[in-house]
Amino acid sequence: MERYRFIVFEGIDGSGKTVQSKKLSESIGGYYTYEPTDGEIGKLIRRVLKGEVNYSGETLALLFAADRREHVDVIGRELRCRHVVSDRYLYSSIVYQSIQGVELDFILEINRFAMKPDVLVYLDVEVEEALRRLGKNRKEIFENREMLKLIRKRYWDVIESRIWEPRYGYILIDTTGKSIEEVHREVLRALKERGITGKE
Ligand code: TYD
Repeated sequence: MERYRFIVFEGIDGSGKTVQSKKLSESIGGYYTYEPTDGEIGKLIRRVLKGEVNYSGETLALLFAADRREHVDVIGRELRCRHVVSDRYLYSSIVYQSIQGVELDFILEINRFAMKPDVLVYLDVEVEEALRRLGKNRKEIFENREMLKLIRKRYWDVIESRIWEPRYGYILIDTTGKSIEEVHREVLRALKERGITGKE
């Protein structure tokens, strides 16, 4: 019996996570999902991100954890019959909420229920290219140059320090100057090489 995999995509805003996670999901017949979710907690989170509601960093971290708690049930259910590809997961909380001054121990503690993914695909991109890709659609609190630089650096810190390392490790892909198709092929190749999604 095939064992289905839980694959997570992470990267700064504008790294191409959404396009790539959807494409991968289609290619492997998986279930595409994302955080924050479209549930009621996810909707509240999006209002905070747009600056419509003002909460402390801790409260926002708790909201992301609560949203994820509901999400893991969906992920668990889907994994019984297909691969699951998630556009963001706990790594986003580790990176973004710690930048907002929330302690790492607190973030890990409130997310204790979360199962580790099988693999993390980190899509790297230079900040200037990410800003170009985001274009005029920049409306959230984390989407400015200085913030993106900080977030990108923090993702590297997380990867280097191997915090919450998945079973099959991290797949790092530099997307700078590459087309959507090129990056997609690299993702597929890397997953196959590790035996995560079938044979070459
Ligand atoms: P994003 O992927 O940009 O969603 P969309 O493209 O639909 O707006 O995610 C929204 C923001 O939420 C993004 O800036 C990162 C942030 N975020 C956190 O701060 N913590 C988390 O745990 C998650 C999942 C996301």
